[in-house]
Amino acid sequence: MSVHTQTSKVTTSVIRNMKANGEKIAVLTCYDYTLARIVDQAGIDILLVGDSASNVVCGNQTTLPITTDEMIFLTKGVVRAAEHALVAVDMPFGSYQTSEEEALRNAVKIMKESGADAVKIEGGEEILPIIRHIIQAGIPVCGHLGLTPQSVNQFGGYGLRAKDTTEAEKLLRDAQLLDAAGCFAIVLEKIPAALAERVTAAVSAAVIGIGAGDKTDGQVLVLHDMLGLNAGFKPKFLRLFAQLKDNVHNAVTDYITAVKDGTFPNENEKY
Ligand code: KIV
Repeated sequence: MSVHTQTSKVTTSVIRNMKANGEKIAVLTCYDYTLARIVDQAGIDILLVGDSASNVVCGNQTTLPITTDEMIFLTKGVVRAAEHALVAVDMPFGSYQTSEEEALRNAVKIMKESGADAVKIEGGEEILPIIRHIIQAGIPVCGHLGLTPQSVNQFGGYGLRAKDTTEAEKLLRDAQLLDAAGCFAIVLEKIPAALAERVTAAVSAAVIGIGAGDKTDGQVLVLHDMLGLNAGFKPKFLRLFAQLKDNVHNAVTDYITAVKDGTFPNENEKY
């Protein structure tokens, strides 16, 4: 049965209204047309073309190598599939940090060439002028605080963020600044649940958590992780809603056996 609650296209105002009405927001990453169609038709609110594509699609160790053109290529397929969901796309590492002008040029390029509805940008106060510049140009921005994977080399790993009071207070202030700048949503990644709850209450932007507890306005997971396609990855926050790796593996081994023993194709499978 479909869980489609909205028939029309999700916009940033729909997301803001969902927060105001206490309606939880469901977000998943997606990187291709075929899966995006299934996820969209199931009723997801936001499809995020995350730069986690660098890991999931391209096999890189970090999100750093993926380029703007590669993100645009992937996003085009997702946009073609999304009849209902809002499509947000990550601005990749290096595409916005250098200057306000460069950031806006790349945000415009992403919006023009991919057809996405919004961009997502990692960081707080340090990149506030950049975020303001992009929003002033009419491009909706989703912020991203806490564990921001593009800064993995600065953090020295993918551990829990904002455990101490100083970092927690900075994160809360950053969220308020992003909210005041006009971000329609803010992703909070891998931070204590109590802090995520405080942030959610303090801002009008919709707060979407990943590893940030149950009190945020919504949740996001990496699609391939929650489908159980990424066997070795089992952080505490991840629930496996399927175990597709075994299904895919078994289907492929059955196919290989059938080809090799000559039982595929059979009489009904040829012209
Ligand atoms: O790139 C990504 O997939 C993300 C989500 C984890 C929020 O940023």
